[in-house]
Amino acid sequence: MEENKRWWKESVVYQIYPRSFKDSDGDGIGDINGIIEKLDYLKNLGIDVIWLSPVYQSPNDDNGYDISDYQAIMQEFGTMEDFDRMLAAAHERGIRIMMDLVVNHTSDEHKWFMESRRSKDNPYRDYYIWREAKDGKEPNNWGSCFSGSAWKYDKATDMYYLHLFSEKQPDLNWDNETVRKEVFNMMAWWLEKGVDGFRMDVISMISKVPGLPDGPKEKGALFGDFSPYVINGPHVHDYLKEMRREVLSKYDTITVGETAGVTVQEAEKYAADDESELNMVFQFEQNDLDGGEHSKWNLKKIYLPDLKAVFNRWQTYLEGKAWNSLYWNNHDQPRVVSRFGNDSSEYRELSAKMLATCLHMMKGTPYIYQGEELGMTNVPFESIDEFRDIESINAYHEFTENNIIAPDDMMKYLRYKSRDNARTPMQWDEGKNAGFTTGTPWIKVNPNYTRINAKEQLGREDSVFHYYRKLIELRKKNPIIVYGKFELLLPEDEDIFMYARNYGDEQLLVLCNFSDKVRKMEIPDEFVKGDIWISNYEDVTADKEISLRAYEAVVLHI
Ligand code: GLC
Repeated sequence: MEENKRWWKESVVYQIYPRSFKDSDGDGIGDINGIIEKLDYLKNLGIDVIWLSPVYQSPNDDNGYDISDYQAIMQEFGTMEDFDRMLAAAHERGIRIMMDLVVNHTSDEHKWFMESRRSKDNPYRDYYIWREAKDGKEPNNWGSCFSGSAWKYDKATDMYYLHLFSEKQPDLNWDNETVRKEVFNMMAWWLEKGVDGFRMDVISMISKVPGLPDGPKEKGALFGDFSPYVINGPHVHDYLKEMRREVLSKYDTITVGETAGVTVQEAEKYAADDESELNMVFQFEQNDLDGGEHSKWNLKKIYLPDLKAVFNRWQTYLEGKAWNSLYWNNHDQPRVVSRFGNDSSEYRELSAKMLATCLHMMKGTPYIYQGEELGMTNVPFESIDEFRDIESINAYHEFTENNIIAPDDMMKYLRYKSRDNARTPMQWDEGKNAGFTTGTPWIKVNPNYTRINAKEQLGREDSVFHYYRKLIELRKKNPIIVYGKFELLLPEDEDIFMYARNYGDEQLLVLCNFSDKVRKMEIPDEFVKGDIWISNYEDVTADKEISLRAYEAVVLHI
């Protein structure tokens, strides 16, 4: 059966982290007018949708993911008028805007929470998750994602509230129908304004198992794991179906759920092709591959067959049933060229292009995170004082002060995995502060901006930027890239990621060398003398035997 054709399946999304994108007024913080200045740059790249990380009013405990007013713009970013101008300017260029919807929790400075904490009989009390102490301690053993307990004691009523993230991010009680109505009304308000959809923050965590039982605790761990009682919880699909019925079904939107802990079976429900919930989800399996004893904090390199197995599972299991999103990077992940590629000066561009090819030729909606299209790298942070991210700073203290990880090792892990690697300013040019701000940037600029920047790459046809532009252009022109079936080849090969796509009587063969070794490959007969659609080396011919050079990527079409 022919699957449903949809614009959001055919789109490429670009994520903007506004704080670090472009500062227009010299306060060192990116802003909405800065985004407006760069819309033509994005148009030139060819993207269709901007996912805008939160721009709402926020005390910035977690850089905008702690919202104190969902219907106001963060002062540092501008005004609602600026927002409206940005929306209009984006639409004029045929670019849609997808907002970040952060509704698992609010800020503790949101008026709902300020009311809620006042008294046990406050009308807003039940908007949040309050519990009595258990045996004089926290109500259960859950740890928060940002270190410490997931419970905070509140003196006013002598009770604890739940916060899966920072203590300034109290969890909303989605079992309360009024909370759901408030959220749906707020979403409708933005959609009426003309925004085009939502990326839903940690949406897999909104429904908690009643009773909130203690979580499993690993040997030596300080806290229990809440996942079994929070992730893909009992009513999450009911609530999302209700959201679809009450709000989304009335508009033409793009929706993507951030769903930590999602399996393919769960994804089939979240992102089913009948569009009863969301359009697609972000899976975490690819990023969890290099996790270990201390969650993500280590220097582990992924084993390519494992990475291929993850993609293969998602590509094949969801085929014809649900839609995939495709991403390497976002504001929570280190830079992919430093993680799965090679950021040495010799191989950075080649491996950035290879990774782009590998992802963009798969089936699903691709997401590009700001700077990825330049092959921006991880950052040589020198001391803990240079970090701004609450997760990184708290983890540093928790692990080093409890003598679990030595400070020098923890610094190495942060340099490799910290979210701040993605959050340093966008590198626009070789001038002061990479052209990001005339003031003092809120977080340091990666010193490699003199070499790696948009201006240099725009002017050079073989740059990473132009390579991304070509990948997007290919997708626009060729339905096989959007709708073709995926087939993994050579699953066990430790260096080569090779797969085919099939659509009608057309076929694609995608070859990606994830290593710096030269590998002689035999290609299937039918592809000999196929058309080379794109490659990151110049002199490629499609013979029976291909020598794939370091980080080489080739796409053949027949
Ligand atoms: C999501 C966001 C992350 C944030 C967290 C809490 O994972 O992507 O940046 O810290 O949710 O809102």
